[in-house]
Amino acid sequence: MSALGLLGEIADVGRDRVRGGYSRHAFDPAEGELRTWFTEQAERRGLDVETDRNGNLWAWWGTPGPDALVTGSHLDSVPGGGAFDGPLGVVSALDAVAALRAEGFRPRKPLAVLVFAEEEGGRFGVPCLGSRLLTGSIDADRARALRDPDGVTLAEAASRAGFEPERFGRDDLALSRIGTFLELHVEQGKGLIDLGSPLAVGSTVIAHGRWRFSFSGQGNHAGATVMGDRHDPMIPAAAVVAAARRVASKVEGARATVGRLVPRPGGTNVIASTVDVWLDARVTGEDRVRPLVDEIAGIAGEAAAEEGCAVQLSEESYSGTVAFDAGLRGRLGDLLGGVPELPTGAGHDAAILSGHVRAGMLYVRNPTGISHAPEEFAEDDDVERGARALADVLRNLST
Ligand code: GLV
Ligand code: MN
Ligand code: MN
Ligand code: MN
Repeated sequence: MSALGLLGEIADVGRDRVRGGYSRHAFDPAEGELRTWFTEQAERRGLDVETDRNGNLWAWWGTPGPDALVTGSHLDSVPGGGAFDGPLGVVSALDAVAALRAEGFRPRKPLAVLVFAEEEGGRFGVPCLGSRLLTGSIDADRARALRDPDGVTLAEAASRAGFEPERFGRDDLALSRIGTFLELHVEQGKGLIDLGSPLAVGSTVIAHGRWRFSFSGQGNHAGATVMGDRHDPMIPAAAVVAAARRVASKVEGARATVGRLVPRPGGTNVIASTVDVWLDARVTGEDRVRPLVDEIAGIAGEAAAEEGCAVQLSEESYSGTVAFDAGLRGRLGDLLGGVPELPTGAGHDAAILSGHVRAGMLYVRNPTGISHAPEEFAEDDDVERGARALADVLRNLST
């Protein structure tokens, strides 16, 4: 079955009837269904599937061993996400393996399809959790204690789903097997539309991180509390939203977003007692993200003080600027007939891995230029082109 057919098979898994699009998160039923589906599809293609200590799925062609050529992506989504971010890289990998098998190809080094757990951080807040755990880029105790919006810890969710969270942590054996990691991904902006190309080779990933502002004030009655008598944490929360836009707009290459804000208790006629605000901040080029966050935090602090509220700021994740392996980039470009290189503002497991192994990315054009939303798209022809390109690259790199 082609990459398109495989995407069709999972089109109904994890649909979000409230938000639209898909909500597939670590260790939830939809993600579990996708893990089972992936395992069956991989086994049908003659691959041996194993789960590593951190819940990442590996499907091996040949005996697992060092210097393996590994390709894959993730199957989880943001809340209300699109159909392609993550799954496209997985189905293209399965398709490429089937195509190589059909032509009688035998890889000279072990080849694996890898599915990372919780790439989006949609449930536990930290993106690229599977690759961060694998590479030791996040402390395992800290990871186990992460909580989802219902207060369930990662450790609890993982054990309920049949995993062993006590084994989470840096996995030197798994890491030592990867010679090269290649992630095919739908493009998430307008880069390929502007270049007029269906495919690109990844060049750099922007420095980015997530911060949480926790404001606390005095919960109270919306009608009985006069305006001068309030300590409303929604006021400094609003200041963060406005400051993110204002501050990032004057810094070249900066993007700052508040996409999630949780007031408690959350009643229309209730002045909130606490508000948590999550800031996603990114800046191209040098790592200039933290100074940007500091400026927003300064504005938030003043707004909190003026309102008589307290504020706590914590950094939930951070990744510096990444440039993918120059030799691999050159080779991919040559192999694919000179497709252009493209930087990205999105984070990826390949970027986390690139600090440890040779890593690279291929992007497939997204004609809407929209991602992390149901409008995310790739034309059928481009999906097929991407899977063929991946097969060509795997054939070449594994001989
Ligand atoms: C992941 O897709 C991210 O960059 O937010
Ligand atoms: Mn994403
Ligand atoms: Mn992705
Ligand atoms: Mn991503």
